[in-house]
Amino acid sequence: MIKVFIAGATGWAGSELSKGVFNNNQMQLVGALSRKHKGENLADILNLKNADIPVFEDIETALSEVNFDVLIDYTNPEVAKTNIIATLKKGKNVVVGTSGLTDDDYTEIEKIANENNTSVLAVGNFAITVVLLQKFAEMAAKYIPNFEIIDYAHEDKIDSPSGTVRELAYRLSKVQKPIVHVSDDELVGEKATRGASLNGVQVHSVRLPGFVISVETIFGLKDEKLTIRHDSGTSAEPYVKGAMLAIEKVGTFKGLKRGLDSVMEF
Ligand SMILES: NC(=O)c1ccc[n+]([C@@H]2O[C@H](COP(=O)([O-])OP(=O)(O)OC[C@H]3O[C@@H](n4cnc5c(N)ncnc54)[C@H](OP(=O)(O)O)[C@@H]3O)[C@@H](O)[C@H]2O)c1
Repeated sequence: MIKVFIAGATGWAGSELSKGVFNNNQMQLVGALSRKHKGENLADILNLKNADIPVFEDIETALSEVNFDVLIDYTNPEVAKTNIIATLKKGKNVVVGTSGLTDDDYTEIEKIANENNTSVLAVGNFAITVVLLQKFAEMAAKYIPNFEIIDYAHEDKIDSPSGTVRELAYRLSKVQKPIVHVSDDELVGEKATRGASLNGVQVHSVRLPGFVISVETIFGLKDEKLTIRHDSGTSAEPYVKGAMLAIEKVGTFKGLKRGLDSVMEF
């Protein structure tokens, strides 16, 4: 039985996951983090039957009052970083669902995980279709040294690019850095229109009503191109299964792993 603590358990993604963990007979949901519901019972908030799941306002109080094996975080990048570091320092493992942490944040987190003999599994997107997109894009990047990513999301998404795109750019850069055909210094006109370079991968973010979350990786060769695209729907259901797999697997290694496929068999 894995004892699970969910930070952000009352949010869009966290509440769906809370129901999944609650109904999983290999897991026990032992506590949650939410400022608005501090002191309440998560079971009452989410209509879960016969359970007492305390809600805390901050991770330090939670760590001193409840015993758990794995923290899964679905809050925001700033809060997540505090939660992750505090939890690792107490010798517990962490699954990161929150997007917006940078590669530098992960370098720091990896160091703390190693120092405390604990593990972190950070997954920009738990949906199986996204895991496949990452795999297919990595295969393409082996053969095609020219690629850019377009990141589409709803107008009020505060983090840019999305966690999915940040992770994808990081992973593709590890396969190979795309060729720079015109350097920043050679560019004329509005340089910002070329987007941002993440680990050498050019990323363009679109934020408009009408979009949920989509990602498009475009690979170009002379006289041919390949587009690999993923579109998310509006519910948080596709993330639940992957997040529970991450909770199961995070204790099977030490240090940091990024991406759900890092603990899956292909
Ligand atoms: N990896 C994936 O597959 C995946 C999938 C979906 C979403 N996400 C990411 O997950 C994160 C959450 O998304 P969401 O749409 O679920 O957000 P949301 O609906 O706004 O939920 C945020 C949750 O975090 C809690 N929270 C926020 N600030 C807090 C603080 N200072 N202390 C304690 N709790 C705090 C909120 O509760 P209170 O306001 O009551 O504090 C709420 O429960 C985002 O970064 C999103 O991009 C990732």
